[in-house]
Parts: sequence; C-alpha cells; structure tokens
Amino acid sequence: MNQLLTGKKGIIFGALDEKSIAWKTAIACHEQGAQLVLTNAPIALRMGKISELAEQVAAPVIPADVTSMDDLKKLFVGAMEHFGGKIDFVLHSIGMSLNVRKGRHYTEMDYGFNQKTLDISAMSLHKVLRTAWDLDALNDWGSVVALTYIAAQRVFPDYNEMADAKALLESVTRSFGYHYGVRNKVRVNTISQSPTRTTAGSGVKGFDGFISYAEKMSPLGNASADDCASYCVTMFSDMTRMVTMQNLFHDGGFSFTGVTQAVIDQMEKQ
Ligand SMILES: NC(=O)c1ccc[n+]([C@@H]2O[C@H](COP(=O)([O-])OP(=O)(O)OC[C@H]3O[C@@H](n4cnc5c(N)ncnc54)[C@H](O)[C@@H]3O)[C@@H](O)[C@H]2O)c1
Repeated sequence: MNQLLTGKKGIIFGALDEKSIAWKTAIACHEQGAQLVLTNAPIALRMGKISELAEQVAAPVIPADVTSMDDLKKLFVGAMEHFGGKIDFVLHSIGMSLNVRKGRHYTEMDYGFNQKTLDISAMSLHKVLRTAWDLDALNDWGSVVALTYIAAQRVFPDYNEMADAKALLESVTRSFGYHYGVRNKVRVNTISQSPTRTTAGSGVKGFDGFISYAEKMSPLGNASADDCASYCVTMFSDMTRMVTMQNLFHDGGFSFTGVTQAVIDQMEKQ
C-alpha cells in the first residue's frame, strides 16, 4: 500500500453512511497514512452511523453545522488541539437542497428555502475557508477539495436549484483559492463527480434514468464513490502541489463526450 498522506492531518466533512463519498474518502485517506477529524451536522450525527467510521479510521468526531461560524471555529480549534498543530487538508462533501426536498419545481422555487440551500451547499465553503484563514489553521501547501456536479455548466432540469448552488461553489473555489494561494500556497479545487448512489444523489428526481444515461454517455462509465475517494487522496497529496482554483472533472469522460455509440444504439431501438 502507498503512503501518500503519511504525516498529513485532515478534516472530513459530510460522512453520513457507508455510501457517502466522504465516508469512502475518510477510509482511503486513513489507508494512505493520514490522521483525521470527522465532522457533520448535529442532526446527521444523530441519524447517521458516523461512530462506526470514527472507530474504523481512529478519528474523533466534532459536530458542526457548516452554516454556523461558531460551530466551525470550535471544529477547527478542536481539530488543531487534537492534532497538536495545523491542518493539511479539508474535504467539503456537503450538499442539500430544500426546494428539491420539498418538491418545489425550479420555476416555483421558494426563495427562503433557496437562501438556505445556497448557504449550506455553496457559501459554506467560504465559511470553512474563512474560519481556517482567520485562525491560520492550514499549513502552507495545504489542500482543500469540495465536491460538485456538471449541472454548474450545463442544464440538467431535475437538478433544480442545486445547479446554481454548484456554480456558486465553483466560483468561491476560484475566488478564495486565489487569496489563499497568495498568502499560504494553499490550493482550493472542486472535483466534479459522476452521479453516484448516495443519500444526497438519490434525492434528485429521476435519478435511475439519470445515472444510466451518464453511464452510457461516458467512455469509461460512471466514476464510483471509491474512485472519487482515490482522486481526493491524490489532491491532498504532495503529487498535485501546483493544481489550484480548478474544477476537475472526475466522470469517466462524460463532460467532453458529444454522443456515444451506446446512446445512438439506444435511440435507434426506439
Ligand atoms: N451523489 C452524487 O450523485 C453526486 C454527484 C456529484 C457531486 N456530489 C456532491 O458530493 C457531495 C457529497 O454528497 P454525497 O453524494 O456523498 O451524499 P451524502 O448525503 O452522503 O452527503 C451529504 C452530506 O452533507 C451533509 N450536510 C447537509 N447539511 C449540512 C449542514 N448544515 N452542515 C454540515 N453538513 C451537512 C449531510 O449530513 C451529509 O453527510 C455533495 O456536495 C454532493 O452534491 C454528489
């Protein structure tokens, strides 16, 4: 086994259950020698199974609602106390759409719900980075990764307001990435992942059709959560030190494919 993350210390947001991309990433980082702190919203900690993961990767769990600056400060201070020093990497693996959850169509969105969606799913990355920035909590050459989806660039109608949230998330990645790069050589990137069967993923209407279409439209097929975890490991490692402010497609080639023979064959059957 490689030890790409030996000596590195990281915070992982968003492991709810064993399907979560964050769950798989925590295991992959642990296997590569990292020390971890896990975190999720207090309600998710009550409903999820994070204590199983905590045991598996020998990490403490510090609750934090990612929209609360107080919670985030306690999290970063607690993590630095636990590690006895600064942090090398952060995974932001958080998404939640109130309008999708309440069944509101994009053209009839509730703007109060929308504010919360943007806060939880996009501006939360700014809050995480701002907290780390104010506390000077990240080591030079640290790495921050957030997860996103191609609906930020192209229309997927049932992705609803999350498309706008992901576009904002990717913009925060570039804007804060600039400042953190100049000050501390910290890099900030998004990974744009294939549709994946998780709690958040399955919330998208018509998910089964969506995931099999993407599978047929990707020369390599859909990237799994385990594949995504491996990519996150490389982004946290020293092998990718000069990559920052990027949106990195991790989708088996979907993003640059016009059509595939598999899709043509399917269309001709009809
Ligand atoms: N599953 C997919 O198809 C897919 C595709 C591309 C990108 N993504 C992105 O990957 C990330 C992880 O999602 P997942 O698919 O592993 O699903 P998931 O449901 O396992 O993870 C989402 C996490 O967000 C957490 N969360 C929600 N509100 C929070 C809050 N206020 N404070 C702190 N945490 C909060 C949840 O508790 C949960 O752990 C999300 O950003 C999602 O948009 C998912």
